[in-house]
Amino acid sequence: MNKRDAQTQIDALRTALRRHDYLYYVKDRPEISDTEYDRLFRELTDLEAAHPDLVTPDSPTQRVGAPPLDELKKTPHERPMLSLDSILDREDVLAFDKRMRKELGEPRVNYTVEPKFDGLSVELVYERGTFVRGATRGDGATGEDVTINLRTLRSLPLHLQSDAHPPDRLVVRGEVYMQLDDFQALNRRMTERGDEAFANPRNAAAGSLRQLDSKITAGRPLVVTCYEIMGQSGPVPPTHWDELEALVRWGLPAPAHRKQCATIEEVIAVHRETEAIRDELPYEIDGLVVKVNRRDWQERLGEKSRSPRWAIAYKFTPRKEITIVQDIAVSVGRTGTLTPLALLKPVEVGGVTISRATLHNADEVARKDIRVGDTVKVERAGDVIPAIAERIEVPGQKRERPFQMPDRCPVCDSAVAREGAYYYCTGQAACPAQLKGAIEHYASKSALNIEGLGKKTVAQLVEEKLVNNLADLYTLRKEQLLELDGFADRSASLLLNAIEHSKRVTLERFLMGLGIRQVGQHIARVLAEHFRTLDAVMATGRDAFERVHEIGPEIAASLESFFKEDHNRQVIERLRALGLMIEAVPEARQDARPFAGKTFVFTGGLERFGRDEAKRRVEQLGGRAAASVSKQTDYVVAGPDAGSKLNQAKKLGVKILTEAEFAALIEKA
Ligand code: IVH
Repeated sequence: MNKRDAQTQIDALRTALRRHDYLYYVKDRPEISDTEYDRLFRELTDLEAAHPDLVTPDSPTQRVGAPPLDELKKTPHERPMLSLDSILDREDVLAFDKRMRKELGEPRVNYTVEPKFDGLSVELVYERGTFVRGATRGDGATGEDVTINLRTLRSLPLHLQSDAHPPDRLVVRGEVYMQLDDFQALNRRMTERGDEAFANPRNAAAGSLRQLDSKITAGRPLVVTCYEIMGQSGPVPPTHWDELEALVRWGLPAPAHRKQCATIEEVIAVHRETEAIRDELPYEIDGLVVKVNRRDWQERLGEKSRSPRWAIAYKFTPRKEITIVQDIAVSVGRTGTLTPLALLKPVEVGGVTISRATLHNADEVARKDIRVGDTVKVERAGDVIPAIAERIEVPGQKRERPFQMPDRCPVCDSAVAREGAYYYCTGQAACPAQLKGAIEHYASKSALNIEGLGKKTVAQLVEEKLVNNLADLYTLRKEQLLELDGFADRSASLLLNAIEHSKRVTLERFLMGLGIRQVGQHIARVLAEHFRTLDAVMATGRDAFERVHEIGPEIAASLESFFKEDHNRQVIERLRALGLMIEAVPEARQDARPFAGKTFVFTGGLERFGRDEAKRRVEQLGGRAAASVSKQTDYVVAGPDAGSKLNQAKKLGVKILTEAEFAALIEKA
């Protein structure tokens, strides 16, 4: 591709990626799957790698962090960043409303209500629509400059939507936080590496943003939501509600769950409803923020030394309670990892009875010094497994001896080995706990996708010794299934069909299904695309694995040791002997790829294929699916409700296909 074409394509990809970020983070209405997003992203990365001089600092690929700093620079805020007074009870919120009405001399005051995000507060400065500076709240008067760290957050736009005419200068306040599933995954990664787990999502967010090395921040799943204009040039919106709407128009993420309330009773109702769905939200909130809606009224109400008079944090019942550790059990995971688990005297924390809490790993137990009999404070965030926040010293109490990891597996009695902070059972498939985990993983949606092979069935198959390794799944007979709990003729047939159906599998899914340590969906795809056949993967050693882009020494070591293991090779051989067909990835030969060099753009709904499938077909045949139409586009496939891309195609004279014509083209290829 020549430079001009590359520039056009790069511009189109950047525009598309920014638009998808906006749709995802601001509008909460994504139009493409994560896989598709990753593909566009990779396409841009590849093009920029081929044309390094076309890389600009505001490219979506550049959210990777900058060279590390020696310290975080202190920076004074333009206006003090206030805090909020908080209340817990209905009486308090009624009193708040009464105070507002009295001070304003108004019979009724209306409010905007939004979640109180549990993260850390930041100030963001945009000049002429470009993000120029960001700081933490610090002590309210002076914060720390975390501009380069904030640049790594995909939800933070580096440019505002220029067509919405944002003010020349805009200072907004928002909250940086971590979603609950991201938090859990991060903690898993941290403890697997032997690092200390974060106590809660808020600590994780703070620890991730206040980094000297922004590359670390870039690897942490932080998001931002904006809830306040702290300063702007030009006219200010008349109400807080309009303020939030303006933020969204300008391209900034604002609280999705915002509500206007005409009376304080409505506020109380929203509080009740939100508390009830608290656990369904993907992030942790610890209450609502109630704000007087009219800004002229806010101004009249003014502020106290550290908090505004016109807003209040209306908290939910706290989710920390005190209880006693009755025992410390050890559970065995899919890859054999031993995880200590505190068995607690049951206690109700925020409406849910808690009787166990994860202790992550042996180091964590030692660090928090948790022993049987101790009094502890347990904390629950969303539906994350509860954790022990801290131990509470009870004066004069005689304590048990410190906890020690067992030296035999509690499930199969095999020897326990140690790797850093990590203890694991060496029993592998001989350990029922590991075998169950391995089969569940093999059958899961993103692996072999065997419907009907859930936890309960797997447990029975293993306990009844019907399945002793993955290959045994393919020798199961109906009579055997009928012996199990919960199986009737029809369900047994369905499961056997599903198993039969799984015999044709892509290399990527198969590699994922093997459950090799450190090999998830992404790495499985990388391996499949690089090596193309299972034999090639199996013939590769550590060094050659490491030479593959994205595969580091740890993954390479894990791959080598998996494929070296006789038992694993035997199971794979047996799987193949029993009819498992692992599809090789087609070679990138021009003649075998009739669509090589051809670019397709899909627009409007596709009824027969669906977008993802259509794109997959094009790619299989060597073509490329792009997001936007340019002169380089060869075909635009337009569904019935196609819009601007279709017009663009007509304007540029690009060939337009209906879905049926596209289907015919594929057939022919
Ligand atoms: S408004 C002048 N709105 O809660 C008003 N704060 O306890 C300033 N917070 O430091 C704050 N979600 O970090 C506001 N929707 C929201 C919020 C929010 C979370 C945080 C903020 C503040 C703390 C006060």
